[in-house]
Amino acid sequence: MTRTMQAVEIIKPGGPEVLELCKRPVPNPTHGEVLIKLAYAGVNRPDALQRAGLYAPPPTASDLPGLEGAGVIEAIGPGVTDWAVGDQVCALLPGGGYADYVTTPAAHCLPVPQGMSLDQAACLPETFFTVWSNVFQRGGLTAGERFLVHGGSSGIGTTAIQLAHHFGARVFATAGSDEKCAACVKLGAERAINYRDEDFVEVLRAEGGANLILDMVGGDYLPRNIRALADDGRLVQIAFLQGPKVELNFAPVMMRRLTITGSTLRPQSDLAKARIAEALREHVWPLLDSGAVAPVMDSEFALAQASAAHERMESSGHIGKIVLKVA
Ligand SMILES: NC(=O)c1ccc[n+]([C@@H]2O[C@H](COP(=O)([O-])OP(=O)(O)OC[C@H]3O[C@@H](n4cnc5c(N)ncnc54)[C@H](OP(=O)(O)O)[C@@H]3O)[C@@H](O)[C@H]2O)c1
Repeated sequence: MTRTMQAVEIIKPGGPEVLELCKRPVPNPTHGEVLIKLAYAGVNRPDALQRAGLYAPPPTASDLPGLEGAGVIEAIGPGVTDWAVGDQVCALLPGGGYADYVTTPAAHCLPVPQGMSLDQAACLPETFFTVWSNVFQRGGLTAGERFLVHGGSSGIGTTAIQLAHHFGARVFATAGSDEKCAACVKLGAERAINYRDEDFVEVLRAEGGANLILDMVGGDYLPRNIRALADDGRLVQIAFLQGPKVELNFAPVMMRRLTITGSTLRPQSDLAKARIAEALREHVWPLLDSGAVAPVMDSEFALAQASAAHERMESSGHIGKIVLKVA
């Protein structure tokens, strides 16, 4: 007999109101997968893009939104040896996190850090996978470098500030209010720039330029980022909140030996994501276990209030992460 579960689906592309509760069959774990009974699911900006019809899920992924969560392993598929039924995990999901149950590759699960609650753990995977792979692996940030992150108070930003600071970089962050700037400084930024009052290009140039910029804004930030970079600097693009198209003079890229790169996590192979998980477990999980680094929580909503959670996120009033209580 097919078991059913409660989930939130996107009934059509649109605003937060298109998120509706539904009943779906509980998925079955296939080879290499686990079935997780979720306690909490993280809410991420890419979920809102998917809801709006701007970020289609990969063909093999669930159509339900939700890229991360935390809970207890309920069943394991063939070939899974690393996890057992009853283990508490947090996991990167291919989709389907706004639901009671979800399947994901076992290699995309990580243990719930010591002493951490499941709501906090549900906040970890999407931003930590994204920040680790873009700032440290792709961007090659090293101790002593000047690092600028835009959207410093976002889920991504609050993670990037803490990790960059912990690994010895000098951290600069932009945000849209003094309250958000204060939060960035508390997390380890030596200088937070309220972009409504100050020009980040001037601030960074006065410091000698940024060695690495993590940007999610795009639009007119692209030429401004180029100006804010130091010689040999790197720009890593992870989103384009203000659009991907812009007129750009590439001469400084050549003259000042700049690197422009970027990536997006979701379409990468299972193996690539498993490798990021391995690196996180080695380099970052000890920091979470010790409490040296912790997710910044903004608010919690019931699964049935997923629309309100998206409204909160798209208002940009939040600082840190928003979670859905599933169980
Ligand atoms: N490439 C990847 O693999 C990947 C993975 C996850 C997330 N992302 C992207 O990373 C970004 C952050 O994700 P998140 O989940 O952390 O989102 P989030 O918490 O909602 O943060 C987005 C932040 O961007 C700022 N913002 C919003 N609209 C803006 C605009 N038009 N211009 C400038 N700033 C704007 C807001 O801060 P202020 O109020 O301070 O402006 C907001 O805090 C999103 O764009 C998301 O799509 C990429």
